Amino acid sequence: MAVYRLCVTTGPYLKAGTLDNISVTLVGTCGESPKQRLDRMGRDLAPGSVQKYKVRCSAELGELLLLRVHKERYAFFRKDSWYCSRICVTEPDGTVSHFPCYQWIEGYCTVELRPGTARTVCQDSLPLLLDHRTRELRARQECYRWKIYAPGFPHIVDVSSFQEMESDKKFALTKTTTCVDQDDSSGNRYLPGFPMKIDIPSLLYMEPNIRYSATKTASLLFNAIPASLGMKLRGLLDRKGSWKKLDDMRNIFWCHKTFMTKYVTEHWREDHFFGYQYLNGVNPIMLHCISSLPSKLPVTNDMVAPLLGQSTCLQTELERGNIFLADYWILAEAPTHCLNDRPQYVAAPLCLLWLSPQGALVPLAIQLSQTPGPDSPIFLPTDSDWDWLLAKTWVRNSEFLVHENNTHFLCTHLLCEAFAMATLRQLPLCHPIYKLLLPHTRYTLQVNTIARATLLNPEGLVDQVTSIGRQGLLYLMSTGLAHFTYTNFCLPDSLRARGVLAIPNYYYRDDGLKIWAAIERGPWAPTRMSTSQRRAQGEASLPSRAAWPRSRGTSRSGTRALSCPTPTWTLPSSRTASPSNHPQIPPKKKERCKHEEEQFLRVLQTLPFSLFSVRLNLLVCTWGPLQPRWL
Ligand SMILES: [Fe+2]
Repeated sequence: MAVYRLCVTTGPYLKAGTLDNISVTLVGTCGESPKQRLDRMGRDLAPGSVQKYKVRCSAELGELLLLRVHKERYAFFRKDSWYCSRICVTEPDGTVSHFPCYQWIEGYCTVELRPGTARTVCQDSLPLLLDHRTRELRARQECYRWKIYAPGFPHIVDVSSFQEMESDKKFALTKTTTCVDQDDSSGNRYLPGFPMKIDIPSLLYMEPNIRYSATKTASLLFNAIPASLGMKLRGLLDRKGSWKKLDDMRNIFWCHKTFMTKYVTEHWREDHFFGYQYLNGVNPIMLHCISSLPSKLPVTNDMVAPLLGQSTCLQTELERGNIFLADYWILAEAPTHCLNDRPQYVAAPLCLLWLSPQGALVPLAIQLSQTPGPDSPIFLPTDSDWDWLLAKTWVRNSEFLVHENNTHFLCTHLLCEAFAMATLRQLPLCHPIYKLLLPHTRYTLQVNTIARATLLNPEGLVDQVTSIGRQGLLYLMSTGLAHFTYTNFCLPDSLRARGVLAIPNYYYRDDGLKIWAAIERGPWAPTRMSTSQRRAQGEASLPSRAAWPRSRGTSRSGTRALSCPTPTWTLPSSRTASPSNHPQIPPKKKERCKHEEEQFLRVLQTLPFSLFSVRLNLLVCTWGPLQPRWL
């Protein structure tokens, strides 16, 4: 008789426990154990519980290969989902094997778990394990299917398929559905408290392992509802006309004032702050160092001489590498939109900036279109204050469109979704790359689904507040994606290509390179393989390239960036040599924010559910300083 001791850990989440019958079967190289029900006195498998059980076999099973978890109906109770964290098995000789699960198990089914040690397909030789890998991937590819959102877009998760799967409808694995130019379906409607339409059906069917947890959902609601109400109350969405004077815009900030909003309110008109935002604002990737002016921007030395001073000239500064260009070419053909029955306009500016001897980046000239000529004057700091301010405001408007649509939503959301999907569909749970990537994809699919349901849907927020509307957004993203290369993803290469490695006070670069270096030094670094090593181990350990998201840009640079060597860059010394005059969040403030955040979480976790509405009201009243950190 051989006795195997099991330690079963249930996740600590709301409703993570189950009332269903749970049984296990151990599978080893020498045989299988009988199916053993996990049943003890009292409640088994409650949220956060760690329960111990014994599995008795007539003989030892050899090396443990699989642990089968059977979930079955218990008496007359309904199906009850279970979040199993892990199961540890102590063998008769004292060897401990860990079987990680970390997933919701729904309905009545059998889930097969493998020991936690990461293994590529080359390291598996037993037909049982190879078959297990194949079956696991097949099931995941059924569960997570691609959908085409719009032409030229990264493919997205087919959320509605989860509902279809539950009703046992079968589809080919290649089945894709398109929702291009979707009509205003009956599910796209207003909800109380939300000033924009929301595509409700696409939110309802989300596979439990990619769905928000209860606490994450609560956190989202605490942010989204007050933010939406705030926009409504402040008249940001309902305003039909223009502000009468610039100071009226201060009303936007009456609800939640922060150090940053106060600073921006006071300094947004200054050239120094305008230039600083290119380095450390929300979109610090627009600047390119140029050695000659493009023909589409005919700025002359005489135009900029008053700003450059007598000691230098435009050509000298170009040769010294002190002239930078922000080119919003992508907006040149962007479709525009109508808001309140009034046509909207979009500029595609060219903004020339100069790095002064004092280390400050300041705008030299602005042309608001890509085509020079009498209809497209070049605005200069020497123009009237209002002309210059208006030109800068148009540039900021273009900056918003490029940042929000492409830098933010396309790069941080949609492209990550493609990688998350490829990871889920192409790598089994035991693969080392899967284990490395999965934590970084947490909630990616759900947050993107929410964004598509509330922001990108017809008459969603984008349609209601931006000059390009939803059609313009689709155009910007598909055009942006068509011009991506893998160099864009390799920070040192990207910085080098833009010629901004030495520009002072560029904290985005400094901090980004530190993070990049930390990734390079990570525990996974030794696992990185060269192409020849991969071939030696059998390329089959990774799925075919066709299975992964592909860049639509130049493949030559992409190939190089994918096997990006350890960077040879060094941090520029200018950062310490030239302190910035611009905003740094004071340490005390940072401390307080951290403290408040902790408080917020404590409050959330300790108040009883019956006080939910009271708690919500309290938080709405007190959350102001926290909002930027939580959005
Ligand atoms: Fe985001």
